[in-house]
Amino acid sequence: MSRPTFWWESGVVYQIYPRSFMDANGDGVGDLPGVVSKLDYLRWLRVDAVWLSPFYPSPMADFGYDIADHCGVDPLFGELADFDELLEGAHRREIRVILDYVPNHTSDEHPWFVEARSSRQSPKRAWYIWADPAPGGGPPNNWESIFGGGSWTWDEATRQYYMHTFDTRQPDLNWRNPEVREAMYGVLRFWLDRGVDGFRIDALSSLFKDEGLRDNPPNPDWRAGDPASQRQHRVYTDDQTEVLDVVRRMRSIADEYEGDRVLIGELYLPLGRLMRYYGTELDGLHLPFNFGLVQIPEWSAGALESLVEEYEAALPEGASPNWVLGNHDNPRLATRLGQAGTRVAQMLLLTLRGSPTCYYGDEIGMMDAEIPPEMTRDPQGIHTPEYNRDPARTPMRWDDSPNAGFCPPDVEPWLPLPESDSANVRAQSQDPRSTLSLVRRLIHLRHQTPALEAGSYHPLNVGADGIFAYVRECGGQRVLAIFNLGPEAATLDLSRSGPSGEVLCSTHLDRDGEVGLNSLGVRPDEGLLVSLSGISA
Ligand code: NOJ
Repeated sequence: MSRPTFWWESGVVYQIYPRSFMDANGDGVGDLPGVVSKLDYLRWLRVDAVWLSPFYPSPMADFGYDIADHCGVDPLFGELADFDELLEGAHRREIRVILDYVPNHTSDEHPWFVEARSSRQSPKRAWYIWADPAPGGGPPNNWESIFGGGSWTWDEATRQYYMHTFDTRQPDLNWRNPEVREAMYGVLRFWLDRGVDGFRIDALSSLFKDEGLRDNPPNPDWRAGDPASQRQHRVYTDDQTEVLDVVRRMRSIADEYEGDRVLIGELYLPLGRLMRYYGTELDGLHLPFNFGLVQIPEWSAGALESLVEEYEAALPEGASPNWVLGNHDNPRLATRLGQAGTRVAQMLLLTLRGSPTCYYGDEIGMMDAEIPPEMTRDPQGIHTPEYNRDPARTPMRWDDSPNAGFCPPDVEPWLPLPESDSANVRAQSQDPRSTLSLVRRLIHLRHQTPALEAGSYHPLNVGADGIFAYVRECGGQRVLAIFNLGPEAATLDLSRSGPSGEVLCSTHLDRDGEVGLNSLGVRPDEGLLVSLSGISA
């Protein structure tokens, strides 16, 4: 039986948003010692890697994605020694640690930008993107920022505009400048030398902008209510070919280090363009994030089947697939799909080919919180309330005490916990039928089952509406995955796959043992894993 050659080809990645995971020092904000205190939980869950959203020194205009020092720890989160302890503790438990690398921009309080804006003659001036006003006055062109509003901010002291893809307090670095590239490669080396296992690279497709600063053309498909940044086709601000050269260089740096360091890229691109980031010789990213399951317009059997088929077909030969179910920029899984849908989606995520990425709290079905407008913290949410990301970033629910064990009961957490949500780790870990028990069982099953870890993927047409099914196969071992996404129970004749199989797991966690394949019942909102040969639960 073959196993994956590299851990990242199938390893489960668990995203931690450090502000919201666990507060060890009782100030209402999560921190690195808090993560350390939960490493046993992560080992119990049996994730292979954690990805930590930024914990670097930052004025927190974008909650850490505005970095003022790439090689430190913000005092809010602890200090470098805490990070080292986290890394060592994670490695001892066979958990890899992936950091968030934010190359596109810095904070406006980063010493580089402070220096750059001090005068037009500053040696760091060309580390950022500056431009004169347009001939008739006003910003140099029509580029829109992702958070809403224009991409240019006027600097009165030096009488030029600087460019920012995101918030005005996040000026974009000028990656055309070799000094910038070297400095930012140095950041990779700093953490690789310290022992980290790889990076999730933030906003990668924004790294280069058109040198001629040409206007982006309007997007005729834009409708009122869509994000303002999509009012234009971002042809001159996104996915410029130069990014691919930089990705190759980053890969060569990662490859200098022993131990399978991994590069994962955040890219919201159509499939064809996304795949280029694997590199022509698979010398680019190990894993360009695949957000198909987050962005799918309709959660139905047909849509899921097409999504997987198109993704699998687009993958370059030898490239490793990956799937993402949620993150800190999107509404939570349970809010999108409900609790039953969450269980089905988790089974799907953990049985598709390639490495799965889960977002903290989704393993207990945490819901988005209602954040009153006056409590909104997210810069995107302040600008465009309908795209507020705070609801999906609330504190992790560890138990049923006030503040859910995240911080002391008498402390106000940085974001409120949803009152209507009672999900918590303690209760669910004691309930054998909970979503947490399901997720843990699926992860363990995955680790014990080569067909799920490394097997091939074959869609199965079962001839029934609302059913999505596939077989994963490896070295004679076959596992059938069936998902009933329709409103009715279904009875399926799968006898061409064999006379009988053995239930490995149902999303309802209430059945096991042998089942006849000529009339296999699947309830609505049920996902079912059936061993067709060679393994038992
Ligand atoms: C993508 C990150 O996921 C998001 O949270 C952040 O606001 C932007 N990049 C800017 O860094």
